[in-house]
Amino acid sequence: MTPEVNFETMTEFKPTPELNQARNFEIEHRTPADRQPAFHFTPAVGWMNDPNGFSVYKKQVHLFYQYHPYSNQWGPMHWGHQVSKDLIVWKQKPAALAPDQPFDKDGCFSGSAVESEQGHVLMYTGCANGKQNQCLAIGDGQNYAKFEANPVLSQVNLPKGYSDVDFRDPKLWKTGTTWYLAAGILNPEKKGEVILFSSPNLKDWTFESILLSFDGTNGKMLECPDVFLLDDQPMLICSPQNMHAQGYEFHNGHNSVYIPGRFNQSLESSRFFQKEARQLDYGLDFYAPQTTLLEDGRRILIGWMSSWNSPILCSRQNWTSQMTLPRELSFKQGKLIQKPIREIENWYKETSHIDNVHLDGTFEDNRMSGRYLDATLQFSNPAHHFAIDLACDENHKTTFTIDASKGWMEMDRTYSGMEEDWVTVRKAALPESGVDQLRIIMDLYSVEIFVNQGEMVLSTVIPTLPQADRIVLHGQDENLTIDFHSMDVEKLHQEKLKNDLDET
Ligand code: FRU
Repeated sequence: MTPEVNFETMTEFKPTPELNQARNFEIEHRTPADRQPAFHFTPAVGWMNDPNGFSVYKKQVHLFYQYHPYSNQWGPMHWGHQVSKDLIVWKQKPAALAPDQPFDKDGCFSGSAVESEQGHVLMYTGCANGKQNQCLAIGDGQNYAKFEANPVLSQVNLPKGYSDVDFRDPKLWKTGTTWYLAAGILNPEKKGEVILFSSPNLKDWTFESILLSFDGTNGKMLECPDVFLLDDQPMLICSPQNMHAQGYEFHNGHNSVYIPGRFNQSLESSRFFQKEARQLDYGLDFYAPQTTLLEDGRRILIGWMSSWNSPILCSRQNWTSQMTLPRELSFKQGKLIQKPIREIENWYKETSHIDNVHLDGTFEDNRMSGRYLDATLQFSNPAHHFAIDLACDENHKTTFTIDASKGWMEMDRTYSGMEEDWVTVRKAALPESGVDQLRIIMDLYSVEIFVNQGEMVLSTVIPTLPQADRIVLHGQDENLTIDFHSMDVEKLHQEKLKNDLDET
């Protein structure tokens, strides 16, 4: 059997001037914690997009990300890096990768990470001279040396007729002694595919199969694929570019979808079918999610809480973008169920309960307010006409509406204080059984709504300043009562401020 890559022969880690520059810059320009969300992952400075390398290494959760430290716009991609013990409180690590080698000089694009006996293995897309190839790096959780013979997977490994111009976002895993890697590619007809490779040693790769192909009628390049078993169900998630709106399921542009596969002996031999693609998140800001498996068996997903076409950029910030709150995944009755990671519960401070609210117009109560909240609204039966204004003051509000007569629910951030004409409204079809529960997670600049115990999720960024903290309910329904339970997670804000001081 071919031995695993001998990591001793990899380039010894020596920070290049490019990496040193990024590491120094992020220390010097770091955003004070009080100007950032309390418990959503953000870069310390600069631009962030996709989550990368979401993995457990030496008992800590590592999350890397597409990163351009020097401005709040996308630029030559680095990998930023943070670690966490509970996926709620994150500590910054020095930038892990900079575009500093001939094989990645134009950018270190998205990829993944796996713990191995020899270290923390990163697999990413190196961009150079218009080509995208897959590259390897290994590290100790802080410093990562790139493999000298990169790229390890390139045009020569591809089936005939395929090119490496759009070939990216490797997701790596190991089954038994074999390494597998799924990546997105445009096939010779320029249609999106997710293809699978295998390797005995991380450096010699063989093309195995096409896991998924889109017919090109809706969606092109399939970005950021991830393949995993969820409650014994093979699952593929990916982010198709350039989709056309379809009912309330898909919106125009970049979407993220999940596709349950057919089980066929092993995960690696399962086939996936486009017709079963479902939206992963019905809000305004969600893309390029990635998952990892925790030691206790939970499959956790985190996504970029932003959008390529409508990225909320606040001129008052020197950082952009947040990740969603990590979510616990399960698969029930053919549906992906997503719930906020349970570690958030360790941070509850005060709770307020208002039971048996009857709606006859507008309802407001001073126990029902705040901007750092985990609030649940339990309806006595599915709500017909209901709306909740969040992050309100005289001039601002973000409204979530349920209209059962029209069959939809809607997020509307028109009055959230936006500086540009970004997309503000998105509708989603109501679940078949209607909506009987909403769990609303609010942090400084975001609202995530989990419908019916995680049957659907809507994630949305709002630029509203924290002073706007009122919550107002609207509706008229004699038969409906609402129990409102709200957990204040303000404590997390304090923790973040404390951490900030510890580290300076
Ligand atoms: C998805 C994506 C990836 C690519 C990265 C570049 O958002 O386009 O396909 O690797 O962003 O930053």
